[in-house]
Amino acid sequence: MRAFGVYVSPAGAALKSATAEQLARLSHFLKPRPPFRGFLVPLLPLQRRPGLQVPPQGSRATSTAPWRPRRNQLPRWSAIGGWGLVTGSLLVLLSVAAVGIYAGLYNIAADVPHTRPVSWLFETVRDRSVATRARDIVVPNDLDDANRISKGAGQYAEMCSGCHLAPGMKRTEINRGLYPRPPELRRQTDLTPAEQFWIVKHGIKMTGMPAWGVTHDDELLWDVVAFVQKLPELTPEQYQTLVKNAPKYEDHEHNREDQ
Ligand code: HEC
Repeated sequence: MRAFGVYVSPAGAALKSATAEQLARLSHFLKPRPPFRGFLVPLLPLQRRPGLQVPPQGSRATSTAPWRPRRNQLPRWSAIGGWGLVTGSLLVLLSVAAVGIYAGLYNIAADVPHTRPVSWLFETVRDRSVATRARDIVVPNDLDDANRISKGAGQYAEMCSGCHLAPGMKRTEINRGLYPRPPELRRQTDLTPAEQFWIVKHGIKMTGMPAWGVTHDDELLWDVVAFVQKLPELTPEQYQTLVKNAPKYEDHEHNREDQ
């Protein structure tokens, strides 16, 4: 039922006896909302609500034309507010992303590279995460100690070369198949020793780089880092000699028990 005699009905007739103000109040709640604002319902709390509209004194509430608030009394688009639009757009973006994820649109295969934005995102997250966490690591001052480097060479050949290769070594199957590709550590990197240590100890999620700190103690990992520092300078022959002369560890020096 609409107010103000738009429909002639018993209820309408009863309403005719009500005062203009009561009718205005009723019509305010009964009037259907204009359809174009329907989809903005989630944003309603952000909208400037029009005050209760009362017909001016002396107007004829019983007229057949429904009384409406004047145009400038309606909430307008501009009144929805910047935050409403920002929230709305974010919700739309999130919904699109969620549908894409659940529909399996992104190819997670290791033989197809990431799209550029995803590469950028992962690499930035990785680099910032490592840099932040390696900041307070205290680097031993004997990283160029020959004994450390010699020990590290043996560990490297055993634990790392399968993925990261070594001077004079051909690419292995695991090096070719991994994505992201394990960088060849004999090429200079821009990582500090502290950052290399952090990566070797904690590994990197979703890359295949293991957390060697789970099974090895810090001293041994520093030996490996000491060796990795030297790696770019080594010829294949020097590498072979270092590895051959590396001290043998009993039981591979797995200092930490498996938990
Ligand atoms: C199963 C393969 C695998 C093994 C074994 C492995 N790594 Fe890695 N490592 C990776 C991959 C893959 C990455 C690249 C991760 C990335 O791109 O974010 C990586 C990254 C690194 C990095 C960072 C390099 C850079 O410049 O960004 C260092 C340092 C590193 N590994 C050291 C080691 C050391 C030392 C060992 C041996 C103790 C080792 N890794 C063993 C797969 C491996």
